[in-house]
Amino acid sequence: MASLTNAVLIEPTFSMYRKCLNAHKRRILSLDLNDDFTLDLDMVQDALDGSNEVVFLCSPNNPSGNQFSRDEVRTLLESTSGFLVLDEAYVEFSGESLVGMTKEYQNLIVLRTFSKAFGIAGLRVGYAVMNRKLAEKTRSTLLLPYPVCTVSLKVAMILLERYEEVSQSRADVQRTREQLCQELRKLPDITVYPSVTNFLLLEVTQPSRLLVESMQQLGIKIRDVEWVNTGRNLVRVTVPPYDELNRVVGCFKEVLIQ
Ligand SMILES: Cc1ncc(COP(=O)(O)O)c(C=O)c1O
Repeated sequence: MASLTNAVLIEPTFSMYRKCLNAHKRRILSLDLNDDFTLDLDMVQDALDGSNEVVFLCSPNNPSGNQFSRDEVRTLLESTSGFLVLDEAYVEFSGESLVGMTKEYQNLIVLRTFSKAFGIAGLRVGYAVMNRKLAEKTRSTLLLPYPVCTVSLKVAMILLERYEEVSQSRADVQRTREQLCQELRKLPDITVYPSVTNFLLLEVTQPSRLLVESMQQLGIKIRDVEWVNTGRNLVRVTVPPYDELNRVVGCFKEVLIQ
């Protein structure tokens, strides 16, 4: 395997990639998503310079909540001379995984986790899917002797056996997300970005910190996306349980229509 040079981040995205790459002193090439968090494929293609880079792409993306298309991912895979690491942490909420493309592309590594739809973030179970040759190489060169706690693995296996229930709760999230989206879009001074995850990214005209504080006073915790550092007023709201939906929407109304 030729040595890998740049790590390419397509941002804003999950902030741990930048932190980990910095900790490993990797050179980062940061490429911006468009203002509406879609991908500027031409720009990304131009930036990939054949230097065996590793491109990190979260799809669905955090914090934007959108998923990139199969064709976009295919174009990236065919544009890089290195690897594409596709983080599908939220894919259970969207329904369309590209994991099958690992059969077709030797340079695709898909990351999945039990932290989101399966709800066991604290147990730290995740996995990577890639072609057999690369998996064997990764296993022999990188894998620690006891990479995952046995209890965590056992719980993950029980959850897989109860996949029907997980699917039901995923369907509930999808239904509630669509209603939350519709209701929030009726409110003034707010942009609700399309999401296929269990959260929505909102852009407001008032300072995001004020919105977070006002909602907190009403007992609703939303997250200031200040780490995206765009100077924009972005907040992230988790899709609530269905029976909390009206209360959450009511609080947004109270804060935004004053
Ligand atoms: C895109 C993305 N990938 C991965 C993770 C973390 O996954 P894990 O708990 O498996 O480390 C997160 C958590 O917020 C995330 O947003």
